[in-house]
This record gives sequence, structure tokens and C-alpha cells, in this order.
Amino acid sequence: MDNFIQKIEEIPTIPIVSQRVMEISGDDEAPFKDFVAIIEKDQALASKILRVANSAFYGFSSSVSSLKHACVILGINEVKSIALGCSLYNFFSHSESDAFDRTRFWKHAITCSQVAKLLGTHFSTRNRDSLFLAGLIHDIGKIVLDQYFHEEFVQILEYVSLTKTTFIKAEKKILGTTHNQIAAKLLEQWSFPEEVITQILYHHGPWHDKNYGTNSTILYLANVLTKLAGYPCHPEEKQIDLHEFANSPEVDFITKTGFDLDYERIKRLISNIQEYILMEDDNIMRLFD
Ligand SMILES: [Fe+2]
Ligand SMILES: [Fe+2]
Repeated sequence: MDNFIQKIEEIPTIPIVSQRVMEISGDDEAPFKDFVAIIEKDQALASKILRVANSAFYGFSSSVSSLKHACVILGINEVKSIALGCSLYNFFSHSESDAFDRTRFWKHAITCSQVAKLLGTHFSTRNRDSLFLAGLIHDIGKIVLDQYFHEEFVQILEYVSLTKTTFIKAEKKILGTTHNQIAAKLLEQWSFPEEVITQILYHHGPWHDKNYGTNSTILYLANVLTKLAGYPCHPEEKQIDLHEFANSPEVDFITKTGFDLDYERIKRLISNIQEYILMEDDNIMRLFD
């Protein structure tokens, strides 16, 4: 583990614009002039934010015309999340490695970010701002593994294909740690908001999260539903069975947390997601290009 920590500490930091975005207060009341000024220095990032704000996902009838406009109608926290998400997407979008399909990875991630937001709205949870960002980067630890622990990562992928186990179990077996723990360590180093880090750390086990249970549970569910809807990160991984999942202790936990969920409801959520993704398929991958 010491070896991991040391190697993660050597990972370069995110671009300066993201660091500045991070430093901006998370307070919606904060003047957004400074925030807009920082982002406008990076025109590519500014236009990406506008593209996301104008996507069907937000469903505004008139278009979001400027960054200032986006801050007013989405709130500074939401725009901050989009900015950080876009920035990390750029930072990690290309891979030299054949072992891991980065396009499929991002499709899973982008879909999960949208599903997390949809679930946040569906269940009317409070503090939904961080769901988009957490959904988008929830598996970022896998990219860290691919780039910085490549040999072990290839072994994990092989083990998953060979044994049809889950990715998490393969990581534990081969590394003794998991991508969610690695991501949490890196995001901490990059001073990401605590709530985002917590959700990502617990996205495979929200029952361990004692502080932000609701959003961790939503991210967990979003990840499972994204897989069930046909957008897995690793198709070779052990498939989730809808019936089994609906009757699992995990769903029992989710129901106890206050979300009304049963087999029929899960099925309906999945078909809503599939409908939405099919409608938005072309736009989804272009959202961040
Ligand atoms: Fe994951
Ligand atoms: Fe995932």
C-alpha cells in the first residue's frame, strides 16, 4: 500500500484552470464574476460547459447563452461541477493502451453521471449538485491504474475475463486495494470537494458511508442501473441479474435509506434510462469532445 500511495503522490496535478475553479467558494451566493473570468480564460472549456448546459439533459426550453447565464440558471456549484468534469475528461480522455477501451469507459461514466442526476431528481434528494461530477469521475481510479499501475491493471482485466468475477474482487485479489480507494486518495490530493470524494469512495458500498449516505447510495444505484441499461465499463465482468439484484440485501438497504424500490420500479427506471440514452446517444459522446 505504501508503494501505491507514493506512486499516486507522483501523479501530476490537474490543469491550473481546474485548480482555480476548485478554489472558488462552493457558495451559490458567491459573486460569480471571478468564476466566469477564470473559465473564460480557457475558451475550449467555456464552450464545453455551454454545450453541457444546453444538452437535453438539463431540458431548458431556451438556450443557455453565456457562462454568466449558465451560472444564474444552473447555480455556480453545478457549473463548477461541469467545469471540473470536463477538465478531468480532457486530462484522461486519451490512452496509449489497447488493454482498456477508453471510449467505452467514458460512455459508462457519462451515462452514470446523467443517471445519477436523474435519480437525484426522481427521488427529490437534497444537495444534488455533486451527483453529476461524482457520476462522471466515479471510476477515475481505473484510469489511474491503467496509466500508473499498468502491469497490475492488465492482470486485473485478464483475471476478470478468465474468472467472470467482478472488477472489485479482481482488484482486491491482485492489488489488495480498489479503484474507488485509489480515486479517493488522488482526489483528496487534488483538493476535490469532500462530498464528491466520499461518494466516489463508497460507490461500491454506500452502507459504509456514515456521512453522506444519500448521495453515495444514489451513485451506487446509478452505477448499477447504468450497467443494467447496457452501458457497462467492463462487459467481461460478472453480469448483474435484475431479479437477483431486486431481491438483494443491497436493494433492501436502499429501500431502508428511504428510496422506494422494487423489481417493477427498477425495471421502469432502466427503460427510462435506455429511452433517454437512445434519444441522446449521438449527443452524449459529443458532449465533451
Ligand atoms: Fe466503480
Ligand atoms: Fe462504474
